[in-house]
Amino acid sequence: MTSTISAEVRVPGDKSLTHRALMFAAAARGESRLSGLLAGADCRSTAAVLRALGVSIPPLPADGGELRINSVGIEAWRAPTEILDCGNSGTTVRLMMGLLAGRPFCAALTGDASLRSRPMRRVTEPLSRMGARVSELGDPDRLPVELCGGVLQPLAHRSPKASAQIKSAVLLAGISGRVPVEVWEPGLSRDHTERILRSLGVSITGEAPAEGGWRVSLEPPTGPLPPLEMDVPGDPSSAAFLISVALLARDGELLVPNVGINPTRTGFLTAVGRMGGRVEVLNQRESGGEPVADLLARPARLRGIEIGGDEVPSMIDELPVLAALAARSEGETIVRGAEELRAKESDRITAVVDNLRAIGVEAEELPDGFIVRGSDRPLKGRVRTYHDHRIAMAFGVLGALPGVELEIESPEIVDVSFPGFWETVRGLGGRRS
Ligand code: S3P
Repeated sequence: MTSTISAEVRVPGDKSLTHRALMFAAAARGESRLSGLLAGADCRSTAAVLRALGVSIPPLPADGGELRINSVGIEAWRAPTEILDCGNSGTTVRLMMGLLAGRPFCAALTGDASLRSRPMRRVTEPLSRMGARVSELGDPDRLPVELCGGVLQPLAHRSPKASAQIKSAVLLAGISGRVPVEVWEPGLSRDHTERILRSLGVSITGEAPAEGGWRVSLEPPTGPLPPLEMDVPGDPSSAAFLISVALLARDGELLVPNVGINPTRTGFLTAVGRMGGRVEVLNQRESGGEPVADLLARPARLRGIEIGGDEVPSMIDELPVLAALAARSEGETIVRGAEELRAKESDRITAVVDNLRAIGVEAEELPDGFIVRGSDRPLKGRVRTYHDHRIAMAFGVLGALPGVELEIESPEIVDVSFPGFWETVRGLGGRRS
């Protein structure tokens, strides 16, 4: 920890919100006005899939400027003439399957090698029970699949996981098939879909039932969805990488303005606080139905903590970078209850632990998490990213520290969620002593 930083840096728009903003704009009738969108590869996949269904979507502005989408509504979507390629994006394929379930045509969906290795029955199974016909065109539970939509039945779904992608797929099927749906999940996952639906006037309620977990119920609107106006805030998951660089610096401070602080996404900030990190949440406000703030991070001496259970869903995407912080904290950090990490863009438990060990950090795999022992010894080695953007950036945080020499394979993969990440981190460098 021998560097100084002093900067104000914006992060790109929120990935989860950008996917949803594009999908809702394409499903609505009228002109939607969106700004602050992420132009990363995952969101470009969503835009490309919607274009293949006949929706006219201009290129996503790289500078967060306004994008207008004029749509005649989801009823006008037409059968695609080619397979829908969702690239690296789980949110694209799973949410789009929900929207396609109520459309009276067939569509085949696929993705890159990473996405083709991820489980899909968690979504195709409830959608099949609603009446969609799904054929697996390759391996069981994997893409490619063909989904033929049509008339749907109402569904009360018990999701085995706290997963916003599962929950959203069922809610969106309720919208496209115009049937009531209910989803129970074992813990509250990110609730962006519910917030947008509510802002569009759709009747949707959430409650914590006596049995535990979270239940959301949707009554479909009778008419078309109205167009959406949304200024997408900065992505808290992207901010977590820059905040981590600041926490590990020797002195200075970093301001990241306009970041989403939806409570279903802020587990990382809470965990960092328990580690002794200093991140101030300033100018809290609302934008587009989402809480937003400016985050001010300062260097701190961090100590290891234990993480598990209910707090995992609110920091699921931040656990790789938390492991990087743990490598420079005092003592041991133990993460449990995070087996879902194995079903992300890579098996993030193995990817984190193998890479930490490869560069000289003591770390152990658990079936549902990991243990990292912190130190300040010099670190050196080659990082295998498994083509996973968050693995590349988590190790990019460590690589930005003096005394750490890392060679990161396929660094360009960061374009999935944070175009310009490497330039931004280099720009934080400031004075080094
Ligand atoms: C997302 C939900 C989460 C998260 C992913 C984005 C979303 O996945 O990991 O990066 O936008 O709904 P799960 O729903 O599989 O937990």
